[in-house]
Amino acid sequence: MKQTHTAPAAFIGAMETEVRLLIAALENCEKVTLHGVDFYTGILEGTPAVVVRCGIGKVNAAITTQTLIDRFAPGCIVNTGIAGGVGAGLAVGDVVIGTKLAEHDFDLTPLGYAKGNVCEGDKTKPTFFEGDAALIDSLVSAAKTAAPDRGVKTGVIVSGDVFVADRALKKKLAEDFGALAAEMEGASVAHTAAHAGVPFAVLRVISDLADGSASDSFTDFEEETAAHSSAVIRAFAKAARI
Ligand code: ADE
Repeated sequence: MKQTHTAPAAFIGAMETEVRLLIAALENCEKVTLHGVDFYTGILEGTPAVVVRCGIGKVNAAITTQTLIDRFAPGCIVNTGIAGGVGAGLAVGDVVIGTKLAEHDFDLTPLGYAKGNVCEGDKTKPTFFEGDAALIDSLVSAAKTAAPDRGVKTGVIVSGDVFVADRALKKKLAEDFGALAAEMEGASVAHTAAHAGVPFAVLRVISDLADGSASDSFTDFEEETAAHSSAVIRAFAKAARI
C-alpha cells in the first residue's frame, strides 16, 4: 500500500513472538503506554509504523485495536502472527492472508441465527468482515518476496476464544465458515477496524494443523512461523515505503 500521508501503518500481534522482531526493526523507536499496553512507534523499512502486542483472545484484540485507532489514527491495520491450518492441503509454514474474517464462537443459534452471525446482516449466514483488497494484494506480493517457495493462500480466517486442537471442531469450521485457518484475534481486529472505517488485513503463518497434534506442533514451530510472519510484514512495509 502506498502511503499518501503521514498516518502510520499499524501492526498488531497477540504474543511476544509475533511482534518482537518488528519492534526490534523499528528505527527511531519510542514507547507509549496506554491502559497498560505498550505501543511502539517508529519507522519500519522506511514506513511510519506502530507495533503493539495486544495479548491473546478477542477481547484483548478489540481493546487494543480501539486504543490504537483513537490514539494513533493509523492509515491501515494489519494483524500479524500464526494460526492453525483448517483448510485442506495446508502445511506448517504456509502463509494465509484473510480475505474475510468471522467470529466462529459467536453463537446465537438457539435464537435462529447462523453460527458466527453477530446480529448483523442476513441472519442465516455468518457475519464476515472483509479485508481491504489493496492491503491483501500487497501482503500476497510481500509473502512471495519474503519466501518465493512457501505456500501462500488467501481465504477465510476464523477467530474464537479457543485454541483449536480437535478434528471435529476443525471440520465444523471448514463446513460452517469455509475456513482456511483458525486463530484467536483476527476477526476481532477486523470487527473493530471495520466499525471505525479503518482498512485492515490479517496475515498468518500456519504453526499447526488445529488437530490432535496442534499443541506439540505449536510448541515446536511457534518461533519460526512467527518470525516468518514478521519477515512478510517487513517486506510489506518496505514495498509501502514513501
Ligand atoms: N494459533 C495458532 N494455532 C492455533 C490454533 N490451533 N487455534 C487457535 N489459535 C491458534
